[in-house]
Amino acid sequence: SNAPVKVAVTGAAGQICYSLLFRIASGSLLGPDQPVELRLLEITPALKALEGVVMELDDCAFPLLSDVQIGDDANTVFDGVNLAMLVGARPRTKGMERGDLLEANGAIFTAQGKALNDHAADDVKVLITGNPANTNALIAMRNAPDIPQHRFNALTRLDHNRALTQVAQKAGVPVTDVTHMTIWGNHSATQYPDLFHTQVGGRNAAELIDDQAWVEGDFLPTVQKRGAAIIEARGSSSAASAANATVEHMRDWVQGTPEGQWVSMSVPSDGSYGVPEGIISSFPCTVSGGEYSIVQGLEIDEFSRGKIDASVAELIEERDAVTSLGLI
Ligand code: NAI
Repeated sequence: SNAPVKVAVTGAAGQICYSLLFRIASGSLLGPDQPVELRLLEITPALKALEGVVMELDDCAFPLLSDVQIGDDANTVFDGVNLAMLVGARPRTKGMERGDLLEANGAIFTAQGKALNDHAADDVKVLITGNPANTNALIAMRNAPDIPQHRFNALTRLDHNRALTQVAQKAGVPVTDVTHMTIWGNHSATQYPDLFHTQVGGRNAAELIDDQAWVEGDFLPTVQKRGAAIIEARGSSSAASAANATVEHMRDWVQGTPEGQWVSMSVPSDGSYGVPEGIISSFPCTVSGGEYSIVQGLEIDEFSRGKIDASVAELIEERDAVTSLGLI
């Protein structure tokens, strides 16, 4: 049988991981023939709770789960890992300024970037879910000079999936009919879900829906503010859907995207679509052989240009803030 793939997950005692770990262990990430070894990182006070989660993993008797190791030292937990899903982050708490949040997370992602740099397997792929995801990914990437930059991604797949369902419900079609969705920019309220290249049953979504008032007044704000709406309704932030998106992003990055389709991935910009090189921004991407490519040649109209530029401006601001904090 195949050697286990070593999968590191941080924030492992948190609410996203309470879904995520079970999806990984049951085969949703790497398929039904690939054993996995879980390497779970937490902060010291959460290790006891994490032991409880591991007891539950044991109690599932997952055939594909070859081993689980836990710890609070990234250097040990990341040793030899092939995939790293960085979910744990410092949430914004009352009275915390944006600068404080960037600084608190900066400490986490500089340390984890260095630990990956020094200890991960040569083929490591790193996906950052913990917020502010794009900028945390930038910090980790810049603190891991020996890992190729394109191995650092951030999660905008949840936004992508949210947008797919909004379009499917508006058009009255199954979600599988909606393809070629793109989230551009930052995983934040400035993100731009682009309907102008989206297809519904092979037809252009914007033309089919033909309702710019809905696009601007309903679709965009619903997708952009969905995280807050979930908190409002559920009393805590999206967890199962975030776990699902984390699995899907990494699954597609490893296993590839279906022929003729694309997904949204936040990746280091190569300058495509006027997004400054080096910042980690969301693009339409295809994946083949474990390597993603940014879809080229899409026409960007004036409306989309303005929205993309606004979100990219926010990413540049965040980059400049962490630069002046000395984190990158
Ligand atoms: P949570 O607060 O339930 O869990 C986070 C866990 O991370 C905690 O158990 C905490 O102890 C741990 N942690 C903190 N610092 C750590 C460190 N240095 N190393 C290892 N673990 C550490 O939060 P939840 O709901 O699981 O969310 C995790 C993150 O994902 C948050 O930053 C959240 O904002 C973000 N998120 C991102 C989404 C996206 O689409 N990119 C969607 C939803 C959430």
